[in-house]
Amino acid sequence: MSTTLNVNGQARTVDADPATPLLYVLRDDLQLNGAKFGCGLGQCGSCTVMVDGHAVLSCITPLSAVGARAVKTIEGLGTVDKPGVLQAAFIAEQAAQCGYCIAGMVMRAQALLERTPAPTDAQIREHMNINLCRCGTHMRILRAVRRASDNLKSASTSPEGQRHG
Ligand code: FES
Ligand code: FES
Repeated sequence: MSTTLNVNGQARTVDADPATPLLYVLRDDLQLNGAKFGCGLGQCGSCTVMVDGHAVLSCITPLSAVGARAVKTIEGLGTVDKPGVLQAAFIAEQAAQCGYCIAGMVMRAQALLERTPAPTDAQIREHMNINLCRCGTHMRILRAVRRASDNLKSASTSPEGQRHG
């Protein structure tokens, strides 16, 4: 069955069973391979993407539940040459070992910062708690989210940031 999704601001039409997990559609039909298959059971967070501003586990989200809502994946945040704020912060903190969990971590953090740009450390910890890192990079990941939030704050209070609203 043909379905049109809104992914990273673009209309993308796929031919897939409505019960297909969003993760499979992103990876197999749209070649957006940032989100990863970890457990397939909603227990690890490596498949996290955003739907209408909320972090969702795409391995347990059927295509039929997405509809026309805006899907954002890590590919929508930036590029290798022009990384987004969170991506740059993860690089600066060297917040990855194997990297398998990182796209999910970044997207969960993105959902937090879009709603709560200046979270407390406790809010960051609570929000990120769902996503697991088997390499034990959690402390660096938390520092990267803190750094991204601080960078957003200084950008919004700098004369340059204020000019651009
Ligand atoms: S792969 Fe989706 S939660 Fe683990
Ligand atoms: S960096 Fe390896 S699972 Fe997180």
